[in-house]
Amino acid sequence: MELDIKEKEKPREGSGIIAALALLAVLLTIGCAVAIGFAVHGHNKGVDDRREMGRMEEMVKHLKEEENDATILRYTWDDEVENMSADEYEEFKKRVMAELLKQDRNVEIEALSLKSQYARYMGFGKEVLLRHGPGPCRKVGGAEGGSEDLTILKNGLMFMTSGYYAKFEGKILMYNFHKPYEPVKGLTIVKGQDSHFDLSNFHPHGMSSWEEDGETYVYAVSHPPTEDVVEMFHFNSSSQILTHMRNFSSPNFNYMNDFVMVSKESFYITKFWRWRDFVRIRLEVRLLARFGEIMFFDGTDAKTLISGLVMPNGINMSPDGKYVYVAEFGDLKLRTYKRDITDNSLTELEVETGVDNIEVDPITGDMWIGCHPILHKLWEYDARGATGLTPSQVIRVKVKDGKIQDMIETYVNDGTEIPGSTSASFYNGKMVIGALAAEHIIVCDALAID
Ligand SMILES: *[C@@H]1O[C@H](CO)[C@@H](O)[C@H](O)[C@H]1NC(C)=O
Ligand SMILES: *[C@@H]1O[C@H](CO)[C@@H](O)[C@H](O)[C@H]1NC(C)=O
Ligand SMILES: *[C@@H]1O[C@H](CO)[C@@H](O)[C@H](O)[C@H]1NC(C)=O
Repeated sequence: MELDIKEKEKPREGSGIIAALALLAVLLTIGCAVAIGFAVHGHNKGVDDRREMGRMEEMVKHLKEEENDATILRYTWDDEVENMSADEYEEFKKRVMAELLKQDRNVEIEALSLKSQYARYMGFGKEVLLRHGPGPCRKVGGAEGGSEDLTILKNGLMFMTSGYYAKFEGKILMYNFHKPYEPVKGLTIVKGQDSHFDLSNFHPHGMSSWEEDGETYVYAVSHPPTEDVVEMFHFNSSSQILTHMRNFSSPNFNYMNDFVMVSKESFYITKFWRWRDFVRIRLEVRLLARFGEIMFFDGTDAKTLISGLVMPNGINMSPDGKYVYVAEFGDLKLRTYKRDITDNSLTELEVETGVDNIEVDPITGDMWIGCHPILHKLWEYDARGATGLTPSQVIRVKVKDGKIQDMIETYVNDGTEIPGSTSASFYNGKMVIGALAAEHIIVCDALAID
């Protein structure tokens, strides 16, 4: 039997084990389709869960992977687990982990000082943020399902991805900077010739756009059950309809996050996780495993350019096309790479700090980054099925020739105004903020951005 964690919201007094079990249950409920955030099966965990994560790390000293592994570990929830004593439960978990390790081969990961690295990453102990913004901000509705990533056209139209979580309908939203307080609206999507698009399995994540010969193309990463794909749409500006044209996929894709188009059919893309199943994804996060990659898709297939990153997230390019920027979410770093325009290869230039999606102002070249200043709160929010609060932060990064000149925090909020800011940008004096699952976006008069 598989456990529906939602039925078990109340932690049992004194034991704390239910919280631990909930985590394990997610771990064990691997049968569930695809990893669209872990937390489709939410639970309010908190401190016990964090302790649990620490213990889990200790157990997993070496995680081994079997390449081309078709075995998805399946455990069914055993009712008896619920009544185990703490000691019995510890033993049970060890057996599960041992089983997991036995089934994995080949790649060894050193788990050095994981606990402190993990604690730093999660920001345990960070709780309070002092609110500020660039000027008056207001909520603009119409984004039920969130606004995870965004892309702005030259004419001031903005598209956003909505419905990252499986509980929401997948949509592409549109917002017009020339009518700043009009709600965002979901665009109609139709299938083009030869399109195999399946709207019911569309849960868009990172996005990008391309304008060429007066035509506009909009693209989004999606995580259908079968394989991650980048979906390509044509935007008809008079009918405001998106026509699905084709997808881009590769056997080298796994759990992809964000990408940036460099032509109508080629792009740089971040591989966020090496795996797509819940158990392994959870382990990847707990280990902060360096399994992330930056890949280049050349129109037919994707090849790895940079590997060894921890959960590379947002990716974008400088307006002159000479530099590629990557937010290394798992290492709290912002990376800039020099791009060889002749063969699209990348060389790492500099390492700073940063996080989620990156937008680049085409005029100033500044990066605008949606950030999560306290990561344990974000993961808890995710684990609750994207309900409650998690803080939001926007940073603006000035760069020159790939070198970071200045970094300014333009917005911080504990999440009451908007929880989980994943994206931000600037157009014509207005700053916008998109979020993981909020039903509104934020539009601020950006009076003071320095
Ligand atoms: C677990 O304990 C509860 C309360 O004592 C009991 O009702 C339930 O039947 C037990 N479950 C199992 C599988 O033993
Ligand atoms: C865009 O939509 C209009 C109708 O509003 C239609 O006449 C036109 O053919 C469409 N253009 C394309 C390229 O599909
Ligand atoms: C991607 O497109 C191909 C070719 O049209 C199609 O066979 C495949 O099912 C599509 N993949 C997804 C996940 O939609």
